[in-house]
Amino acid sequence: MTWRTLSEGGTFRVVVTKNLPGSRWLEILRQADCEVRVSTSRDVLSAADIKKEIGTRCDGVIGQLTERWDTELFSALKKAGGRVYANYAVGFDNVDVPAATAHQIAVGNTPGVLTETTAELAVSLTFAAARRIGESERYLRAGKFDGWLPDLFLGHRLHGATLGVIGAGRIGSAYARMLGSACHMNVLYYELFRNEPLEQYFEGLSRLLAKEGVRGPTCTRVETIEDVLRQANVVATHVPLFDATRHLINLERLRLMKPDAVLVNSSRGPVIDEKALVEHLKANPEFRVGLDVFENEPKLAPELTDLPNAVLVPHIGSATVWTREGMATLAAANIAAVLRDDPVAEELHVEDFLEGDCARLAPSIVNAKELVHG
Ligand SMILES: NC(=O)c1ccc[n+]([C@@H]2O[C@H](COP(=O)([O-])OP(=O)(O)OC[C@H]3O[C@@H](n4cnc5c(N)ncnc54)[C@H](O)[C@@H]3O)[C@@H](O)[C@H]2O)c1
Repeated sequence: MTWRTLSEGGTFRVVVTKNLPGSRWLEILRQADCEVRVSTSRDVLSAADIKKEIGTRCDGVIGQLTERWDTELFSALKKAGGRVYANYAVGFDNVDVPAATAHQIAVGNTPGVLTETTAELAVSLTFAAARRIGESERYLRAGKFDGWLPDLFLGHRLHGATLGVIGAGRIGSAYARMLGSACHMNVLYYELFRNEPLEQYFEGLSRLLAKEGVRGPTCTRVETIEDVLRQANVVATHVPLFDATRHLINLERLRLMKPDAVLVNSSRGPVIDEKALVEHLKANPEFRVGLDVFENEPKLAPELTDLPNAVLVPHIGSATVWTREGMATLAAANIAAVLRDDPVAEELHVEDFLEGDCARLAPSIVNAKELVHG
């Protein structure tokens, strides 16, 4: 493995397991008096590679969702004097947070800068699946387009259709607002908690549209996931990956969905039983799916790539320049704040980190409360 020193000398030593976009993140670490070591490899680093670079002196690490951060790595980091691990992602299912807490290591993540970007990708997948963009583009590129036909690649109109959102947190709400505002889709959401701001947004939108004599879309929380699956024309999953959400969409639940429904997943692959999904797609050619994430990334379930009714992209939900630079900034700010003993932001305002002087706060430490009480 090749490593480069991006910032030489400093009170603290920080290891970064992938080079990150932008320059602000490095500036933040330099200002916090950190020496920065970055891996130049594009391969997923093994625990052994990471441990080797942590060595006997390392105060903090910025790591990736493709790495498994568990007791092995946290105990190596602790032994090297480490106090903070910053995940370069909002999701942290790759991190054993209790293991980090047991080693008194703070775990950072990067909420707030992925929300609209990931929701936009989910919207793109929704349109691409409903309007058969992948299939029709492949057809055209294969030289099969002989002229306009009344029945060429008929898909589904989204306007006024029913949108099912499973997990209406930051990204799920942004996705619902985008399709509710743009296509007047009526939202049914399944959530652990009622999302009043989302419901109020739809009420306000409907009041505005009523002035123009247009009936606005509705937004309703439903009691069970089955209610969403049975009624929605489009279902999108936006839940974090936990034991409780692994295979949340299984064969039994797929069979509850309308045979011509669209299913979109930009959360985490294991939320859907991918083998069951392949079986369902084969049995229901009118059923369509848009996937950004896969159960065993980067491997895909056998036959998935052969199915015309699947739109597949390689985990690019957060892949915009603004977001990836923002994630790097927040990850560096988490490291700098913990090493300087700065407090954790009570409410996250990302602009305080992205613009001007970076706030002397940690943007988001997921085990902050446990560390205090530990
Ligand atoms: N594809 C990508 O590149 C990409 C990018 C960003 C985030 N993500 C994934 O999206 C997830 C959601 O991100 P977010 O910022 O919106 O998180 P969030 O915490 O704001 O929202 C998640 C919501 O899911 C709800 N929830 C949890 N368990 C549930 C269950 N069993 N049933 C119904 N609802 C449940 C929570 O109450 C919460 O409101 C992340 O955890 C991450 O895994 C993927």
